[in-house]
Amino acid sequence: MSIHDHRILILDFGSQYTQLIARRVREARVYSEIMPWDVDAQAIAEFKPDGVILSGGPETTTLDDAPSIPASVLALQVPMLGICYGMQALARHFGGTTAPSSKREFGFARVEVVATSKLLQGMSDHLGDLGQTMLDVWMSHSDHVTAVPEGFQILCTTPSAPIAGMADDKRRIYGLQFHPEVTHTASGQAIIERFVHDICGCPSLWTAANIIEEQTRRIREQVGSDKVLLGLSGGVDSSVVAALLHAAIGEQLTCIFVDTGLLRQDEGDQVMATFARHMGVRVIRVDAQDQFLQALAGEADPEAKRKIIGREFIEVFDQQAKALQDVNWLAQGTIYPDVIESAGAVQYGSGSNGAGAGKAHVIKSHHNVGGLPEHMNLKLVEPLRELFKDEVRALGLELGLPKDMIMRHPFPGPGLGVRILGEVKPEYVPLLQCADAIFIEELGQHGLYDKVSQAFAVFLPVRSVGVMGDGRRYDYVIALRAVETIDFMTARWAHLPYDFLDHVSRRIINEIDGISRVVYDISGKPPATIEWE
Ligand code: XMP
Repeated sequence: MSIHDHRILILDFGSQYTQLIARRVREARVYSEIMPWDVDAQAIAEFKPDGVILSGGPETTTLDDAPSIPASVLALQVPMLGICYGMQALARHFGGTTAPSSKREFGFARVEVVATSKLLQGMSDHLGDLGQTMLDVWMSHSDHVTAVPEGFQILCTTPSAPIAGMADDKRRIYGLQFHPEVTHTASGQAIIERFVHDICGCPSLWTAANIIEEQTRRIREQVGSDKVLLGLSGGVDSSVVAALLHAAIGEQLTCIFVDTGLLRQDEGDQVMATFARHMGVRVIRVDAQDQFLQALAGEADPEAKRKIIGREFIEVFDQQAKALQDVNWLAQGTIYPDVIESAGAVQYGSGSNGAGAGKAHVIKSHHNVGGLPEHMNLKLVEPLRELFKDEVRALGLELGLPKDMIMRHPFPGPGLGVRILGEVKPEYVPLLQCADAIFIEELGQHGLYDKVSQAFAVFLPVRSVGVMGDGRRYDYVIALRAVETIDFMTARWAHLPYDFLDHVSRRIINEIDGISRVVYDISGKPPATIEWE
């Protein structure tokens, strides 16, 4: 049986939680894919899901031209679960009514379960004053269902949303006004599991071991005996691609690892130790530090620096690739959120290119090892195209990559080039590397590394006066940055303990000759960005 034999369609009505629904279904070990609510009928018929989850959305069902459930979805005759807007759309379609609420409900709520139905059977977070079954949930809605369609029963209720859930066990159609996909809903994952396993009948096939087995088979089918090239950065995605391809095709894979000189302390050696020495992957290391630093000399503008680093990277990579014989494939670490963002189809196994529409505003021109030259005329192999980041991590661990590497905070493509403000002078690099390594080491030792989403040091090329022993110092400044975020689009500065910051600051100033002052960045995103450039 293939891991894709059973699957759930997430029909997207524009909710900010749609990706979360797909992730929760995957966590229930069932494959899921997201499609927009107005996707063409053929895509739905071809996908042949075992069940459909209709997402929430920002629209109101009370308007005539409101997004509705497409006939192609209804024709599937498979179980459906509507969440928030999805529930209202179901109510409308089957003959119930909906109305705008006078009160907008947002946040934590307690719903009382008032009917037995397969969906919520046996679930209870606690009992109410009169012994009622209560669930702790996360609500976010303004419209609500005012009458359930014929054949449905009211499943649960709150004072402000008397119909907070509805069920038709016979037709296997369900609606929830609250969001089971967010972790604030205590029994949320249990509800998703109930729907996909017990109601849709999907077995637990989507596991890291099964994904590796199937991907290995596909990669072999796709590339045959051809040679494959991979740009290895040391980041999670390209590392997992390397491990996966190595497992699948061994010697047919060649990785190019460009040491730009702008990596974290000892990072180049670590990458080589993990892949080349321990795993036996063929890795060409290019020591291009001088080339990058020379190209950056005299340039202080952040955008210009990013462009220079991107350009040099492609040049170095290209040169190395040209020297290799008979390579026909380029492997890339594209993951599912990239595919969704560019609105491409997953098309597993087809090796299609997911490049698509860019974002409306370019705040920073991102450089990734992913965006490599088209003129190289290589076919793409993208084995992580279906996977969310947490699934990529699980795969990496299953493939035996070190936990430190897999759980490492993200690191930007241009590396320390955007963490040394203004002109990148060669003498700044080791100072920053050293400060960053101290900060990260201490976060780990104090059990804080996994509590923050990203942490790093930034080099400020301004000099500040200090005193050390009897001597005067006039040295550079290090800024520490640590943030908590889910999606890196918005972020809160991490409220690290003062004693901890004090300890890190003392170590940096005492141990690094050239740094006389440490500051902590207390800016949120927005209005600041996570990186300083
Ligand atoms: P900003 O600074 O835009 O960063 O708030 C958001 C996240 O993106 C990372 N970042 C990059 N990643 N290439 C990358 O691969 C880049 O050019 C780049 N610039 C920023 C940043 O580290 C943070 O995680």
